[in-house]
Amino acid sequence: MTTTEAGTATEGAREVPWHLQGNFAPVEHELDVADLQVEGEIPVEIDGQYMRNGFNPVTGWSDHWFFGNGMVHAVDLRDGRASYRNRYVQTPALEQGGAMSMSPADSPANTNVVRHAGRIFVLEEAHGAYEIDHGLHTLGMEDWDGGVVGAFTAHPKLCPTTGEMLAFGYNVVGPEFLRYYRFDPSGALVQSEPITLPRGVMMHDFNITANHVIWMDLPVCFDLDLAVKGEAPFGWTPDNGARLGVMPRTGSDADVRWFEIEPGYVFHPVNSHEEGDTIVLTVCRAEHAMAGGFDDISAKATLWRWTVDLAAGTVTETQLDDRKSDFARVNDALVGLPTNIGYTMQLGTTPDNPSMGNEVYKYDLTTGQPEVHQMGSVCGGEPVFIPRPGGTADDDGWIVLFGYDTAEDRSELRIIDARDFTGAPVARVFTPQRVPYGAHGNWMPRG
Ligand SMILES: [Fe+2]
Repeated sequence: MTTTEAGTATEGAREVPWHLQGNFAPVEHELDVADLQVEGEIPVEIDGQYMRNGFNPVTGWSDHWFFGNGMVHAVDLRDGRASYRNRYVQTPALEQGGAMSMSPADSPANTNVVRHAGRIFVLEEAHGAYEIDHGLHTLGMEDWDGGVVGAFTAHPKLCPTTGEMLAFGYNVVGPEFLRYYRFDPSGALVQSEPITLPRGVMMHDFNITANHVIWMDLPVCFDLDLAVKGEAPFGWTPDNGARLGVMPRTGSDADVRWFEIEPGYVFHPVNSHEEGDTIVLTVCRAEHAMAGGFDDISAKATLWRWTVDLAAGTVTETQLDDRKSDFARVNDALVGLPTNIGYTMQLGTTPDNPSMGNEVYKYDLTTGQPEVHQMGSVCGGEPVFIPRPGGTADDDGWIVLFGYDTAEDRSELRIIDARDFTGAPVARVFTPQRVPYGAHGNWMPRG
């Protein structure tokens, strides 16, 4: 590959897109390495495994960032020491050299890795769920005895109060565009409800509160013309409007109350909660998405608040900050509950890295003002919260993320004290190979 200037490179005759350059490029090896090199000190209270999924095209080539084969990178932290393992998710899409169909089993399984009821699922929103174990071995596809038909979201929500997993699957082709799934704390599917949408939309994520789920029907819509041309079948069609749908968690399609909002797109909410008749959602909202095609990620999200007044039937939309960020997370113990703290990753703004920036934000969700953790030459990574055992404050713990040092060409698991957020990281755990910029992951405490 020859790089001529930022964002322009060629491999043979074809231009190499940004999503295969630099630290977006895949890695070739599956490794197991113990006793990683550490700068600083890993707090000994941290005991568990951080797993992160991402896009790693097995052939070295994919037509879109989101199409690479799923590879999970895991760092195990115990007694102040760290070990690393990475593995592809073994699916038919891997065996086929990355080629995919719409068959639910044909998943790249590349977007998230989530543990519920002791089982670990690797997820990608256009296909079915796959299961892996703590050793990153693929156990197979899971459809809950046929209860989940078709696609399953990469962003299920784990309720910290009930232990339930709330989820959905969406389809771009009707007649059924959306289905809600609720799993009990043992992992059993206990509710499955079709939800009416006027058209097929890309629904990447959703929101929960103590008593509700909130759907985001946003106008990245199925486009038959694009599908016929063999392109990714999504287009930005703001004329179709945008809506929020508020539904009781045990409710059904008939219970959904829809509220019109301004067209915009949210890949990732920060968190949501309810206060009486008011539902407050904090989200990373962009003015549009994919307006220039499926690989157009030029529109950048900023922090917004949507306040739904169920009594008055209104939604108030407020931009809280103009910093560009996404990959939002909160303390997992506070998902769907009131908290004033959310974490986001700055979005990159250069042609060769439109995705990952070098600042991490700890937002005050009331004021919209962040504390900034500046990483210098290190870019990237969804900030995931590790609670301090026995801690009670919302921010009593650490933020971890995979960062890539563009100056040193090496990757690290960065551990930041969430209560000394602007300070130096407490540890930089250097991985034995580059960890490409990826999607989502989770902290899985031992036991
Ligand atoms: Fe996502």
